[in-house]
Amino acid sequence: MNNQIQLTQDFVIEELKNAEAGHDWWHIERVWESAREIAKQEKVNLKVVELAALLHDIADAKFHDGDEEIGPQKAGDFLKSINVDEETVVHVQEIIRNMSFKSSLGEVKFTSPEMLVVQDADRLDAIGAIGIARAFTYGGFKNRELYDPAIKPAINQSKEAYKNTTAPTINHFYEKLLLLKDKMNTLTGKQIAKQRHDFMVLYLEQFFAEWEGKR
Ligand code: ADP
Ligand code: NI
Repeated sequence: MNNQIQLTQDFVIEELKNAEAGHDWWHIERVWESAREIAKQEKVNLKVVELAALLHDIADAKFHDGDEEIGPQKAGDFLKSINVDEETVVHVQEIIRNMSFKSSLGEVKFTSPEMLVVQDADRLDAIGAIGIARAFTYGGFKNRELYDPAIKPAINQSKEAYKNTTAPTINHFYEKLLLLKDKMNTLTGKQIAKQRHDFMVLYLEQFFAEWEGKR
């Protein structure tokens, strides 16, 4: 393995050693692996893809009072410390800054083939069996209910429905996870997403059937 990639892996493992299970080193490892897989079919700079995949969640704004600049800053400082060239550093920082679902909903400030690959890899880890596990882990971390029949989930539901409370984890599927398949950028990403999406739909059907006491 390239030495800078190896050093980055070591750095990320150390940085994420106390991370919550949905955002821990294993999430990064899965995204890194998917990103390399997707990159095989794309014309991209593999080094940028790998570094961005490895560093994309070292300081998630959700866990840093919404500060979106800590992640890119930390990643940049680290990359410079291992002598990664300036152009690569800036590119990786731009990817980290622009990759979150939140920024993809708003104005897109930056895009590149490398960023599209890493974004797909990250989104794939939010859906399917692992996506389900991560959502409930995050919900547990936030002490959320699994489901509340009074807050019926629906695709593209407005947050008005539960503005004075926190949404149960099941609602997150309708707010975000079920929308991801149509947001995939690459052909490989779309193909993997379809299968994972269908599995989530099946899971939700079973969840509601059990909730309603059907057997
Ligand atoms: P990433 O950090 O990988 O870019 P996010 O930070 O948006 O993606 O979410 C990370 C994981 O936490 C995902 O699996 C996502 O489904 C889950 N998650 C985020 N917000 C919620 C929520 N409100 N309820 C349940 N799960 C959530
Ligand atoms: Ni991520």
